[in-house]
Amino acid sequence: MDLTKKYCVTSALPYANGALHLGHLAGAYLPADIYVRYLRGLGADVAFICGSDEHGAAITIRAKKEGISPQEIIDKYHALNKETFEQLGISFDYYHRTSAPLHHETAQAFFLKLIEKGGELEERVSEQYFDEEYQQFLADRYIMGECPNCGNPEAYGDQCERCGTTLSPTELKHPKSMLSGATPVLKETSHWYFRLDKHGDWLREWIKTGVLHGQQHHDPKAWKNHVVGQCLSWLDDGEGLQPRSITRDLDWGIPVPLPNAEGKVLYVWFDAPIGYISSTKQWASETGKNWEDYWKGNTDKLQLVHFIGKDNIVFHCIVFPAMLKAHGDYALPVNVPANQFLNFEGRKFSKSKGWGIEQHEYLEEFANFPNKEDALRWALIRNLPENRDADFKWDEFVDFYDKDLADKLGNFINRVITLTNSYYGGIAPASTATVPDNIKGLVDSLCADIEAYNLKAAATTLVEIASWGNQYLQDTAPWTIRKTDPDSPVIAECINTSLELVTLLSLLCEPFIPFTSVKIRQLLNLPKVQPGDLAAAIAKLKNGEALLPTGHKVNAPEILFAKINDRNDKSRLEIIERQKAKLEAVLKAEASTVQSPQSSVIPNPSSLMPLKDEIQYDDFAKMDIRTAVITAAERIPKADKLLKLSVDLGFEQRTVASGIAEHFTPEEVVGQRVLLLSNLAPRKIRGVESQGMILMAENAEGKLSFVQAGEAFGPGLTVK
Ligand code: 2FM
Ligand code: ZN
Repeated sequence: MDLTKKYCVTSALPYANGALHLGHLAGAYLPADIYVRYLRGLGADVAFICGSDEHGAAITIRAKKEGISPQEIIDKYHALNKETFEQLGISFDYYHRTSAPLHHETAQAFFLKLIEKGGELEERVSEQYFDEEYQQFLADRYIMGECPNCGNPEAYGDQCERCGTTLSPTELKHPKSMLSGATPVLKETSHWYFRLDKHGDWLREWIKTGVLHGQQHHDPKAWKNHVVGQCLSWLDDGEGLQPRSITRDLDWGIPVPLPNAEGKVLYVWFDAPIGYISSTKQWASETGKNWEDYWKGNTDKLQLVHFIGKDNIVFHCIVFPAMLKAHGDYALPVNVPANQFLNFEGRKFSKSKGWGIEQHEYLEEFANFPNKEDALRWALIRNLPENRDADFKWDEFVDFYDKDLADKLGNFINRVITLTNSYYGGIAPASTATVPDNIKGLVDSLCADIEAYNLKAAATTLVEIASWGNQYLQDTAPWTIRKTDPDSPVIAECINTSLELVTLLSLLCEPFIPFTSVKIRQLLNLPKVQPGDLAAAIAKLKNGEALLPTGHKVNAPEILFAKINDRNDKSRLEIIERQKAKLEAVLKAEASTVQSPQSSVIPNPSSLMPLKDEIQYDDFAKMDIRTAVITAAERIPKADKLLKLSVDLGFEQRTVASGIAEHFTPEEVVGQRVLLLSNLAPRKIRGVESQGMILMAENAEGKLSFVQAGEAFGPGLTVK
């Protein structure tokens, strides 16, 4: 990590029209917080930037539905989201809002600069739907109609939420205005378009090779495969990049700063990322910094990193960089470590279906749950959707807490503080003990993992250090030595080595579980971790110096984590059980609707196999089936039916254990084009972690045949 540089780290600005759920937290906020806290520990000069995204038609529609003003909506959710982030320890340096005048000015100036540049924006006249009764043009979200793809009668003008198809309003059948309910008419209007089409060539080179203006801007291998894969599939899409309209006819948003543009505002996705810049400006003006240091300059001075969820990849890796480059002056991101999605107990989060839990609900319902903030952070960290979708489960929440935090980390710390108190009255005895070399190796790998955005792996290493400490205490057994040789130097050595480890853990756990770090520091009688403390400790480790001075007095022991699964105290398990019961109630309610007589299934007598029960479109849409190629195959010892396959998805490699060994030899399948169910939860089969399932057709004799797309279809394409 280069500490001479400035770091500008952003998390996606959440819309201020709803509360955020645990999936949001795991996607863009918690990972960024870990990264930033680590940077601060190293003493880096970092700005951690976020805020509310307060424009867009979704906000005005919600306001209309609730019969209140958009301002009331954004005020409510800005305050709620800001507060819950704070409560969960997400340590933004600034949480701004895009309704602020400073942001309006910044976005307008950005727009005008693009006009001034010439060739970046162009005005175009097109026909758009107009509500005659309300005398206003309709934003895409204000038009509803029948989806041409699946027949959903309530598809929006920009997207059908049932089948996921992206639409334009004129594609809808029987369009209706959501304002008056009347059929809208097409009318000419003019809008500004950003000439994204002019930026394809340098963007492709920049994403593929990391080269910008002929110089190495970043290491392309440091970017996640799924991020690069998504960008390239966009850039290489047949039609290439197209000009994008960046203004809308709407009365909520940032007015287009031009004469004769009345009633027109900047498109929300144009102004939102500029919100990172205005938030930084506000922070800088309140703290006496220069905001330009965090946005302008080369990568030898400045590192810009955007943390987002995968639905925002194109905006942050293609559209916003193109805007920044078109504007000139600005730095481009050195990485966009987007996460995939977190599901909740096997399904997508869905507020309308009652599936999932929002951040503020968690804080309310777990109000009496000790360590609730770190308990949640830890459960999410251990299961971050870093490279593929992950699933949050309450049972795992309990397991991660009990096995990692209580049994390993808490237990070790408690033993060390207790022994120091009972043997030495709480005073670190004189010895030459320092942190052992093998632990130094673990510290190095923990740091390297955070720097490579492998936060899950880094958290596992943290637990490994605590486990090593427990084992070391157990093996050295100072309590046994003390019975026969109370003055043995081995005892002081053991206690001091352990105290060194506890001190180290108090620093290393700060990015992940900061509330616990404060508690460990209290036990150690040390102030909470300050910027640069981690770097100072690492320097001491390198020099073989101790972290705690001889004679340092620690405080009395206190249990950090009592297990949730406790035989005598069921109170915390009950809180968890209540959450599980809510989900069961949702499932029961759904089952009773499905079993109504209209939906019973009549098996098809002409098929070879009876048809399975009817499913909903949503069930099908959950499957992510991709074209892929088998690149290697081998038999799995002692498993006659299985082949271990390496499967290339174009943007990532998978290992799949497939039950086809009785039908095909490994040689026969290498090079085979296949379809892969790629979001099937990974499963260990005969020691192989199988990451997906290959689709096969089976005939009446039980013969198998690969199912595949046409020859011109390369790997990674979706099957719908
Ligand atoms: O998807 C969203 O929630 C958007 N509000 C993210 C905006 S990120 C940035 F561009 F501000
Ligand atoms: Zn549809």
